[in-house]
Amino acid sequence: MKKNVRFSDMPQCAWLTINRNCNLRCEWCYAQGTKYASEMKEDLAYKIIDIIEQFGIRHVNIIGGEPTCYSSLPLIISYCKSKGIKTGLITNGIKLANNSYLKELIQSGLESVNISIKAPTKEDYCALTQNDCFENVFEAIKNLSSSSIKFIVSYVLSDKTINGYVSVLKKAKELGAKNFYISFCNPFFVNDAISNYGLNQRNIIMEFVNSYGELLEKIKQFSVHINIPFCFFPNGFIDIAKPHIRTICQLQEKKGLIFDENGDLLLCNSLYNYQYGRYNVDYYDFDTLKKYLQSNKIYKIYQTILKAPFKKCSLCSNYKSCGGGCLLRWIKE
Ligand SMILES: C[S@@+](CC[C@H](N)C(=O)[O-])C[C@H]1O[C@@H](n2cnc3c(N)ncnc32)[C@H](O)[C@@H]1O
Ligand code: SF4
Ligand code: SF4
Repeated sequence: MKKNVRFSDMPQCAWLTINRNCNLRCEWCYAQGTKYASEMKEDLAYKIIDIIEQFGIRHVNIIGGEPTCYSSLPLIISYCKSKGIKTGLITNGIKLANNSYLKELIQSGLESVNISIKAPTKEDYCALTQNDCFENVFEAIKNLSSSSIKFIVSYVLSDKTINGYVSVLKKAKELGAKNFYISFCNPFFVNDAISNYGLNQRNIIMEFVNSYGELLEKIKQFSVHINIPFCFFPNGFIDIAKPHIRTICQLQEKKGLIFDENGDLLLCNSLYNYQYGRYNVDYYDFDTLKKYLQSNKIYKIYQTILKAPFKKCSLCSNYKSCGGGCLLRWIKE
C-alpha cells in the first residue's frame, strides 16, 4: 500500500447521500443508526454537485438510505448530466419494478444502476428486510434487462444470506442480469458501538469457498469484494479467486469524496456518525474544500486510520493487495 497518507489532490469519485429514508429495514444495514430519517435539501444537492464538478469528477454514485424514495431524484440526475457528470444509482430496486419510473430516471440521464438482492428466498427477504417485496426486485431486474441501461446486481453475504445465494443470483441471470458484485457483510456502528454482524466470518468464508465452483460455473461474470484479511482464507484460495476479487476500498485509496445528507464529508458510508469535514464550517465551495483536504488535520486523520492493523501486516507480502481487510473489523477484535 502507498506510504503517502495525504488525501488525493484531485479525488476521482464521489458519493452523494441524498437521503436516509428507506422502504426496507435490512437487519445488517450499516446505516440503521441513522434511524432512516432526514434527507438532503435540493439546493444543497446542487451546491455539492457544483463542487464535485469543479474537482473534475465525472461520475457520482447516488446513494441513501434508499435514493428512489427521494422525490427530486430525476432532477438531481438531470442536473448532474447538465454538468457532464455521469450518475450511478445504488438501490434496493423496489421502486424500479415500476417501469415508467425507471424510464423517467433513464430519460433524466441515469447512466447505471447497482441493484441489490437482499436475501435468497421470499421468506428470508420478508424476515430480514421487514418487507414483502422480493418479487418487486425481480420485476425491476426484468425492467432493467429490457432497457438500455447498464446495471449490476449486488449481494451481501452474511450468515443469514449465504445459503442459496448462487441460486438467487442465477434467477437474476435468467432474467437478463449479466454482471454481479458480491461482498461480505461489514461490521458497522450502532449507537457508537460496533455490531457483531459481519465480525465472525469464519463460517461464511468456508461456505463461500465451498460454493466457489458453483459460482464460477453458474454465474461466471462476477466480482467479489474481499474485505476480510487474506490470511483468514484457506491456503491458495485467494490465488485461485484472484481474477474475480477486489480488495482495497476508496478509503484506503484516499480518492473518494462521500457527502452525507448535510453536505458533510464521511470517510466511509458506514461511518455515518463521523464527519471529518463540515459543510459551511470547514469548507463551503471548491476552493475551500480543496484546501481543507490538503490540510494537516486531514493528513493526520488519514495517517491514523491507514496504519497497518497489526505489525505482521506491515511485514506481510500481501499487504499491498489485502490491506488488512475492512478497517472497522479491527476496532473490536
Ligand atoms: C446502505 S445501502 C444504500 C442503498 C440502497 N438502499 C441499497 O440497499 O442498495 C448501500 C449498499 O450497502 C450494502 N450494505 C448495507 N449494509 C451493509 C453491511 N453491513 N455490509 C456490507 N454491505 C452493506 C447494501 O446491500 C447496498 O448494496
Ligand atoms: S441496505 Fe439499503 S435497503 Fe436495506 S435498510 Fe439499508 S438503506 Fe435500506
Ligand atoms: S496483510 Fe495482514 S491481514 Fe492481510 S494477509 Fe497479511 S497478515 Fe493477514
